[in-house]
Amino acid sequence: MEAFSRALGVDVLIACWSAKGGSGTTVVSVALAACLARSSPTGALLADLGGDVPAVIGLADPTGPGLGEWLGSGEAVPADALGRLEVTGPAGLAVLCAGGSVPPAPGRAEVLAAILGADPRPVVVDCGSGLHGAGLTIAASASASLLVIRPCYLALRLAVQAPVRPSGVILVREAGRSLGRGDVEQVLGAPVRAELDVDPAIARAVDAGLWPVRLPRSVQRALRHAA
Ligand SMILES: Nc1ncnc2c1ncn2[C@@H]1O[C@H](COP(=O)(O)OP(=O)(O)OP(=O)(O)O)[C@@H](O)[C@H]1O
Ligand SMILES: [Mg+2]
Repeated sequence: MEAFSRALGVDVLIACWSAKGGSGTTVVSVALAACLARSSPTGALLADLGGDVPAVIGLADPTGPGLGEWLGSGEAVPADALGRLEVTGPAGLAVLCAGGSVPPAPGRAEVLAAILGADPRPVVVDCGSGLHGAGLTIAASASASLLVIRPCYLALRLAVQAPVRPSGVILVREAGRSLGRGDVEQVLGAPVRAELDVDPAIARAVDAGLWPVRLPRSVQRALRHAA
């Protein structure tokens, strides 16, 4: 918990993203936010730009406006309207859901990055896969920009071409892969901050919508120094 505690009290904005779909970005984003929420008296904020957070944490499908609508609105919708979009999630999480896919208004992604960066709570943003739009803006300006990747050559090739260089890498280890931590660090030029195993217990919790209520200790330990 040392790294988490150190992180508290300062503005922490962590962007999680992947270069290839299905890497585990949402699983990592939710777990990281839940770990931060445990150490923070005010909980943590999880912003979903990828769109699959509600399914993973067992929230009912959101019907109201979300980040998409907020990003698509101009100055007529005040910046503080963002707070009214938050919904309560499990494990001390406040969640900003993705909402609809609305073309973003000019400059709105930068405003979002500034608001999230100034939030007194630790903030984790699931930027989804293939950085673009607001996810790209946030991944480029966050205090930690974490690439979630499986040790596969295709994912690595895509990550090298990503428009943002990560400040750290979360490696989701799969059996039978020949690429290891050292290979990934050398190719990407960024440190591996945490290694998570592909574990059936994690898959079961995620697929049952019980993530992060059922967050294994091994995952909490693995993510201790992630950001
Ligand atoms: N460490 C893990 N152990 C076991 N299963 C995992 C792990 N991480 C992710 N998964 C499984 O892999 C699938 C994809 O995970 P996740 O939704 O987090 O990926 P993603 O990168 O967010 O995908 P997308 O590109 O669709 O947003 C899920 O079904 C999840 O259960
Ligand atoms: Mg996802």
